[in-house]
Amino acid sequence: MIDIDKSLEIAKDAALLAGKFLISAKNDAQKILIDDGRDIKLQIDQDAENLITEYISTRSDLPILGEEFGHKGNLGSAFWVIDPLDGTSNYFRNIPICAVSIALMHNNEPILGVINDFFSEDLYFASKEKGAFVNNKRINVSNISEHSKGTIVTGIPSKKEYSKEYFSRMIDDFKCWKKVRMIGSAAIANTFVAAGKAEIYREEGIFLWDIAAGAIIVREAGGNISMSTADNKFRLDAEFTNGKV
Ligand code: IPD
Ligand code: CA
Repeated sequence: MIDIDKSLEIAKDAALLAGKFLISAKNDAQKILIDDGRDIKLQIDQDAENLITEYISTRSDLPILGEEFGHKGNLGSAFWVIDPLDGTSNYFRNIPICAVSIALMHNNEPILGVINDFFSEDLYFASKEKGAFVNNKRINVSNISEHSKGTIVTGIPSKKEYSKEYFSRMIDDFKCWKKVRMIGSAAIANTFVAAGKAEIYREEGIFLWDIAAGAIIVREAGGNISMSTADNKFRLDAEFTNGKV
């Protein structure tokens, strides 16, 4: 039996702890571990994941899946999903659009999620059937229903094929929307939909850790979420909307 309220407190505290750490190190020279193609991994990604994993594992018996270190053993039907730093490239280039993202999955769906937008000092969170909040203030998706008045937030995962076909499909879709935004953090993009700042988030080939917390936050803010089944590398296609567009 999972104690959701207690688990949510654990997730919030872990996300705040990691956010504090990432802020305190923001002016330090960052050690690059991998700079390959369009992907970049920093030592601080791993350090933040270790911090979160240590915090959670001393308070919860559930297994943990993290972006940096994967998982040990079988995950089973209930497990934590951690992205210690979503938007690593933004963090590295001093663009203050990045977040710590922590979710708890049960039977293939997120049952709670926390996104710490640490540069803005905004803590987003939600748990099943309890609504979505930023800093304890309730948030809701927007009421915009026409594509021509709406904003799409999207991204191009670093491992995506940069094919003509892929981009031409993307551009056809862009033409329907009033505004198009690519901000380099799926988690922050999800908070935009949840808080009524954008109407749709869509990304193909995104990783579960980038969007698991965002998914429940959008759903609890009144939106619709659709996610394909993740492949064995935890990649999936996701579309989250305000439920009206
Ligand atoms: C990335 C961001 C970005 C998305 C990439 C992700 P990371 O996460 O969420 O918005 O387009 O696919 O990999 O690697 O900075 O945690
Ligand atoms: Ca990350």
